[in-house]
Amino acid sequence: MRAKVTIVGAGNVGATTASYLAQRNYADIVLVDIVEGLPQGKALDLLEAGPVLGYDSYVVGTNSYEDTANSDVVVITSGVARKPGMTRDDLLFTNMNIVKGVTEQAIRYSTNCMIMVVSNPLDAMTQLAYMVSQFPKNRVFGQAGVLDTARFRAFLAMELNCSVQDVQAYVLGGHGDTMVPLVSMTTVGGVPISELLPKERVDALVQRTRDGGGEIVSLLKTGSAFYAPGASVASMVDAVLLDEKRIIPCSTLLEGEYGISGVYAGVPVKLGAGGIEQVIELKLAADELAGLQKSAKAVQDIVDLMKSKL
Ligand code: LAC
Repeated sequence: MRAKVTIVGAGNVGATTASYLAQRNYADIVLVDIVEGLPQGKALDLLEAGPVLGYDSYVVGTNSYEDTANSDVVVITSGVARKPGMTRDDLLFTNMNIVKGVTEQAIRYSTNCMIMVVSNPLDAMTQLAYMVSQFPKNRVFGQAGVLDTARFRAFLAMELNCSVQDVQAYVLGGHGDTMVPLVSMTTVGGVPISELLPKERVDALVQRTRDGGGEIVSLLKTGSAFYAPGASVASMVDAVLLDEKRIIPCSTLLEGEYGISGVYAGVPVKLGAGGIEQVIELKLAADELAGLQKSAKAVQDIVDLMKSKL
């Protein structure tokens, strides 16, 4: 039987994720949204691309969670996106009610699924899905580090005029202004970045990465990024459904790792058929560890605010 992936939210991130996944041809996809016609229209359009692109992935759009029953993975993209000048945290009160509701609905029909959250503020929304679902932590995780790392790698490759494929990096922490690109572990073709670029240029690219989502928002003016986020989600679905055991940064519940407890934040994990199969503890430089802990504290503050309003 083919794997089944539900994508909640048929907006730009949801539909783009569905498109990338359909092209992989190993799973059927359900696109669910409250707006009537939107998921049906986008799903049918994607289905009709199959003969041209050569995939048989069945893509269906629906307003009913019954159609999502027995999904292997549920990706939550619902919620409003940022407008220029907003931070991801400004979305908290609107998106927390949406994410709570869709999590409750999705798990009624898919009791054994993995939940992958993409809605912002990312780490808090992932923690909310974990609290609401009461699933074990390995089955609830968030997409952010793959995207933030992709942005950092893209900027480094542009700067050095080399292939993105030869840039190795990790961006950890919360998906927000405090995220932590790990400069000490960034290499290009195996060579540490500190040997290839002056510190000011590395610092500038670190800052551009932190502002990467906002840069797109200010260009688009009406919404936020979706191609790189969609590609990032699809790669995480691959890791789970193809049991790839990728070592990639994901938002996961930390329970003492890196000196952080009881909060979701982005760290390297092993992602496979068991979801978060392992949290990887890297030996970080002192300033990077402090940065990660500060970032987790910023997430904790948002989570505390969220809990006070639930
Ligand atoms: C971004 C938003 C989607 O980083 O969080 O583009």
